[in-house]
Amino acid sequence: MTSVRPGRLADAALLAELGARTFHETFGAHNRAEDMALYLGRSYGVAQQSVELADPSMATLLAELDGQVAGYAQLRSGPPPACVEGPAPLELWRFYVDRPWQGRGMAQALMAAVRAEAVRRGARTLWLCVWERNERAKAFYRKCGFLDVGSQPFILGTDRQTDRVLAGALSETLAEASR
Ligand SMILES: CC(C)(COP(=O)(O)OP(=O)(O)OC[C@H]1O[C@@H](n2cnc3c(N)ncnc32)[C@H](O)[C@@H]1OP(=O)(O)O)[C@@H](O)C(=O)NCCC(=O)NCCS
Repeated sequence: MTSVRPGRLADAALLAELGARTFHETFGAHNRAEDMALYLGRSYGVAQQSVELADPSMATLLAELDGQVAGYAQLRSGPPPACVEGPAPLELWRFYVDRPWQGRGMAQALMAAVRAEAVRRGARTLWLCVWERNERAKAFYRKCGFLDVGSQPFILGTDRQTDRVLAGALSETLAEASR
């Protein structure tokens, strides 16, 4: 059974490896290798993930199965794009389930933990960005009750892309859908 725990500073190396690998596995085939290398180099590494794990304005959650980390999510506070209109917004910044565990319910368990942590932090609206071409993730978030509220640019290395912005109230709708 999936259990979810908060990330600790000691998880920085593990998180850096898991983060870079799952990002590359998800988007590598659809992007130029140079852009991917630039993005990975700037975003993942023990130093970078240590900063994230120590940052009180962020929360990192690790999903484990039989003691093995198999997915992670990160929340971060900050001003949302104008298209997110709900009260007390909080961003679901990263949400990744390792490939062998996709389609097996782990994502739902991780999303339930994300919701609980967001509520604990006083949020009432959860929002996120997802690449417009990431059909599987968009289908998953739709299933979880998120609505498409707009778009925003995302720069992968040197490539300007378009993300969809999704949002949902941390109310019964999202609660029921992510159970
Ligand atoms: C996005 C993610 C968390 C979803 O978790 P999951 O376990 O795969 O989710 P599920 O299988 O429950 O749901 C995905 C839905 O997409 C559908 N789906 C599967 N493959 C698909 C594809 N290639 N295209 C479109 N939809 C697809 C499934 O049918 C399912 O819907 P259903 O249950 O109604 O049939 C997981 O796939 C993942 O970590 N992907 C890689 C990282 C990523 O994209 N993260 C999001 C970044 S914003």
